[in-house]
Amino acid sequence: MKLSLLCLGLVAAVCSLSAKADTSTRALSSVEAALVAAVLNLQSNTTLLATAASTTSASTPTSASSTASLSRRERYNLGNILAKRSDYVTLTNGTNPIDGSAALKAPGYLTYKVISNTTTYSAAKAACLNYCDSTKGCIAANMYQEINNPLLDLVFSEKSNRKCALFSTVPCLSGLTNRGGQRLYGNNSPANYIINSAVFYKDNGPATPPGYAASYGPSTEAVSLFDSSFLDWQLVPSYDPALCANICNDSNHTSCVFFDIWTADIQSRNTATVCTLYSAAKTASDATMSNVDVLIVTNSRGYSRST
Ligand SMILES: *[C@@H]1O[C@H](CO)[C@@H](O)[C@H](O)[C@H]1NC(C)=O
Ligand SMILES: *[C@@H]1O[C@H](CO)[C@@H](O)[C@H](O)[C@H]1NC(C)=O
Ligand SMILES: *[C@@H]1O[C@H](CO)[C@@H](O)[C@H](O)[C@H]1NC(C)=O
Ligand SMILES: *[C@@H]1O[C@H](CO)[C@@H](O)[C@H](O)[C@H]1NC(C)=O
Ligand SMILES: *[C@@H]1O[C@H](CO)[C@@H](O)[C@H](O)[C@H]1NC(C)=O
Repeated sequence: MKLSLLCLGLVAAVCSLSAKADTSTRALSSVEAALVAAVLNLQSNTTLLATAASTTSASTPTSASSTASLSRRERYNLGNILAKRSDYVTLTNGTNPIDGSAALKAPGYLTYKVISNTTTYSAAKAACLNYCDSTKGCIAANMYQEINNPLLDLVFSEKSNRKCALFSTVPCLSGLTNRGGQRLYGNNSPANYIINSAVFYKDNGPATPPGYAASYGPSTEAVSLFDSSFLDWQLVPSYDPALCANICNDSNHTSCVFFDIWTADIQSRNTATVCTLYSAAKTASDATMSNVDVLIVTNSRGYSRST
């Protein structure tokens, strides 16, 4: 159990910034430019700082009509998010020759089932993750093919050598140790072996701070700085929702009931963690800000005050 938690920490620390293509044609507003400037200041990028400063001449839209002018793009982005399964992290995708040749032997083994080996990789992965979703306590799935197992080849009705094994703990790559080696067809038969072993686990995210409830995320969209209930933004030194909770609770933000913690990624070079605060509770459908000019939003998670 201790080992699994350690793994979770290590894996979560590898933050992957999925920088999207910049599709926004809108310039930064002054409030956004100030945020960009603060991120760059933090990392002293004077080149970009000059660019950000030059965009501050754009007016600060605060009215409902300026929000409406953004809504088509934002609605498009929202549609993409809702259609996308984002709750599983790929530990290894099956193509690595070393990791891919061993099945997972890890704490918290639950069950397995045989899934079709005649479908595409993505269809098989979807079937395996659906199985995990519908199995109580499932956190991780190991999808692989086992060669030279007579049960799979001859006995089971599926006639498929692709298995989906489920686990209740977050696995480590070092748990990929079962390489087969059993002569299941008889003493002089070829030993069984594993190919295409892939591991996926649910990303449960960081701890939810006391007094708050997780609303959405991780997502590549945050609640807009133009939202009518927007109060303030602040940079924090690490990606920890408790830091935002602290700010939302402080005496300067007495009307704060909701915050969004996200990574501001400036042209995939400079990043910082931002807390944005709001005076009204928000849901995933309110998180519509993705990329604006040089600013890209990743790792966005929303939290509502629950007490
Ligand atoms: C600052 O940003 C520019 C433009 O993206 C980039 O070329 C440069 O490497 C950055 N410098 C630092 C110190 O991050
Ligand atoms: C698996 O990962 C490798 C390396 O990251 C990548 O090149 C490959 O396209 C991936 N394959 C699938 C099926 O996702
Ligand atoms: C699927 O699994 C069956 C049973 O093990 C095997 O006979 C067949 O060759 C496999 N097909 C593919 C495409 O891997
Ligand atoms: C913030 O306020 C909530 C509700 O009053 C409380 O439960 C929580 O402990 C506070 N958190 C911090 C970090 O101050
Ligand atoms: C509230 O804001 C003032 C002025 O910016 C600042 O000096 C003070 O430290 C803030 N208080 C808290 C609790 O952050």
